Amino acid sequence: MDNKFLVIPYSPFSIVMQLLEGSFDKRALEQNYGACMKAAILTGYGGADKIEIRDLEKPAIGDNEILIRTAATTVTQVDNIFRSGDHLFARMATGVIKPKISVMGTELAGWVESVGKDITGFKPGEAVIADSGTNYGAHAEYVKITPEDPVTLKPENMSFPEAAALSYGGLTALSFLQDTAKLQAGQRMLILGASGSVGSFAVQIAKAIGAHVTAVASGDNAKLVLSLGADEFVDYRNTDITQLKDTFDVIFDSVGKYRFGRLKPLLNDNGIFMTTDLSPNILWNMILTGMVGNKKAKIAFTGLNTFGQKMEGLQKLLQFYEDGKLKPVIDRTFTLDEIRKAHEYVSTGRKKGNVVVTVSEEGRV
Ligand SMILES: NC(=O)c1ccc[n+]([C@@H]2O[C@H](COP(=O)([O-])OP(=O)(O)OC[C@H]3O[C@@H](n4cnc5c(N)ncnc54)[C@H](OP(=O)(O)O)[C@@H]3O)[C@@H](O)[C@H]2O)c1
Repeated sequence: MDNKFLVIPYSPFSIVMQLLEGSFDKRALEQNYGACMKAAILTGYGGADKIEIRDLEKPAIGDNEILIRTAATTVTQVDNIFRSGDHLFARMATGVIKPKISVMGTELAGWVESVGKDITGFKPGEAVIADSGTNYGAHAEYVKITPEDPVTLKPENMSFPEAAALSYGGLTALSFLQDTAKLQAGQRMLILGASGSVGSFAVQIAKAIGAHVTAVASGDNAKLVLSLGADEFVDYRNTDITQLKDTFDVIFDSVGKYRFGRLKPLLNDNGIFMTTDLSPNILWNMILTGMVGNKKAKIAFTGLNTFGQKMEGLQKLLQFYEDGKLKPVIDRTFTLDEIRKAHEYVSTGRKKGNVVVTVSEEGRV
């Protein structure tokens, strides 16, 4: 008699026996007992100590969903705002009293683990880049990708950390420059916060489009920002930006620290000021400049872009990468177990480009 039937199918003894005879079926075990994964759980709004690494049930996927095994992900400023709960507008989306979602993280790179029966174009084992958007969940060993989330194959020459750090800052910057500002070659652009995630992508995309870029960051980041292609550099710590002699067709406050009213004199006729930060001030100025004047104030919410826009954006970013015009800037890398440290660093507001979290050993390269 086959000794598999002498014991409970998934008792520790049985698993050892099955391993010895080479008949152990991990998937069958998972299907019978529900598989666990390691995830960073947000236990409430507050500091990084509100995050705990725990075991969680692996996400189940539907017919048109994809399960990805995470290689690398990032901690972004949006994760930081979400976790702290300090931003009233953000709480309206993430839960007014307590977080509605327990696993944060949106951008990731990894491998297709399994696909729903209606999925075509992806198969298990393929390396992919994805963004789970408002479904979050990327700070875990496995992430479910729904039909509204962009996902594409990862180029072989792109590392997992680079691939993980592409979509948040890249898609945000691309959408602001291309869709909101309709930036054209030869236009003059001022980028404030050029050393951040959104800013470092904005500098590279503006140069790829053919604009003239004046980049604003602190002196410590001058070398980095100039290496990304900026034509001119201004240190905001020793220069009053409002007194710059140059004027611009587009001003992009990628870090959300500046006011339209103070920078309006730096705009050329028909110029556009854009910010990433939602505030009553920008909403008021957007309404006002929509009615009068030829200098416009704008904000966009790039996370609300359609699936089609996000997919198109991702392909464009990958083309820039292939053409050598864009490379995600990676500041520091942490493991999933060190994710509290990643949050603490991001919350300083001083990171350069992106902070990566490697979730699996192979995700480090
Ligand atoms: N509206 C949208 O759709 C959307 C989408 C994504 C993100 N966002 C928002 O975009 C903002 C930026 O995100 P991010 O991830 O790019 O930020 P980030 O990477 O955390 O930005 C950090 C960088 O900002 C620089 N910085 C800080 N204060 C500055 C100042 N006064 N002037 C110039 N540079 C300054 C820092 O350089 P120094 O250390 O040299 O000061 C640092 O390198 C966040 O508020 C996020 O919520 C909005």
